[in-house]
Amino acid sequence: MKAKGFNTRAIHAGHEGFKPDSTSTPIYQSVAYPFEDAKEATEIFKGDKPGFTYGRWDNPTVQVFERRMAALENTESAIAAASGMAAIFLLSHHLLNPGDEVVSSNLVYGGTFGLFGTGLIKMGSKVVWVTDPGNLEAWEKAITPKTKFLFVETPSNPALFVADLPALSKLAKAHGLPLVVDNTIATPALQSPIDLGADMVVHSTTKYICGNASSLGGIICGKTEFIEGIRKNGIRYLGPSMAPLNAWLNLNGLETLSLRMEKHCSNAMAVATLLEKHPRVESVNYPGLASNPYNKMKEVNKMKGFSSLMSFVLKGNYDDATKFIDSVEVFEHATHLGTCKSIVTHPASTTHLAMGEVEMKKAGISPALVRFSVGIEDPEDLLNDITQALEK
Ligand SMILES: Cc1ncc(COP(=O)(O)O)c(C=O)c1O
Repeated sequence: MKAKGFNTRAIHAGHEGFKPDSTSTPIYQSVAYPFEDAKEATEIFKGDKPGFTYGRWDNPTVQVFERRMAALENTESAIAAASGMAAIFLLSHHLLNPGDEVVSSNLVYGGTFGLFGTGLIKMGSKVVWVTDPGNLEAWEKAITPKTKFLFVETPSNPALFVADLPALSKLAKAHGLPLVVDNTIATPALQSPIDLGADMVVHSTTKYICGNASSLGGIICGKTEFIEGIRKNGIRYLGPSMAPLNAWLNLNGLETLSLRMEKHCSNAMAVATLLEKHPRVESVNYPGLASNPYNKMKEVNKMKGFSSLMSFVLKGNYDDATKFIDSVEVFEHATHLGTCKSIVTHPASTTHLAMGEVEMKKAGISPALVRFSVGIEDPEDLLNDITQALEK
């Protein structure tokens, strides 16, 4: 498909030539695909003839989703995985050999922090953390001859750090290293890392791409040679493939992605503005606010918005935060983000509980910190819900 507008690609790309044609891409709920004869089987296995062989590495429904994601992220190819963590693991496994290093921002999702911090050691490789990821010199200092790729999550979950992608891409290129961007929070509807010079993009499709909390999934987008290397030597032997039903749910999600992201952004701005002015709120962390230090990154990264993840600290303590959580009625209390429903999370009593008080303090997680993933409900209902809960 020739490059067309984002919404046209989000609805059509990847389905061309699908036989028999259908308006909704069918779910190929099958792990195997019979061959016409022995000659055809050999040709398909050799790669001389297009076709499908076995569901762990190829499936028609999953392939449409992969092609559509590649079209949206402006890469040659993509490979889907069972979850966002499976995608980051496959990518790391493919790029690193024993003794190699990844240089990564330390402001990443907790699962990525765990995989890089402890999981890579089991593979004989390791991470070098950049603890001041807004500082380009800190990245440069962390690079050694063992470095194989740079990794950044932007905007990051939950710290909401926003990287300078053009500058980071330039640095990566100067060192001959690929830059990998976790684009989960922004999605390709708001930010295009490849257009800013990045080499690969990874996602937890579990979040905004699926959009309704119905399926786990992940994707890696990049050059064909790299993606097909993962298909041949990674997913084939390690096995964390995306299920056909999940690919279908993600295809449905993509059709409305940019409409949803627009609404997520406008609702998030309304919520952050209310919180910033509220006397019972100590501070608000949302890059969309003019007062936020990362607000200027919208232009630098040519972003259409800052998505809908935010956090704020209540004037009060742990008990005040749990009371607030128990008082909201439209926001759902869960440990998820990026879904049509607004979600509230209290890190100190859930996601970060295992850290203990001392470590939480070091990481800047206040007992009165609350995280919102603002959904696409009517904004007045969200604002009224927050106001009544703050009054309690
Ligand atoms: C930015 C980011 N990347 C990766 C992941 C991991 O994704 P999954 O839960 O699909 O494995 C998450 C999960 O919250 C995330 O927020």
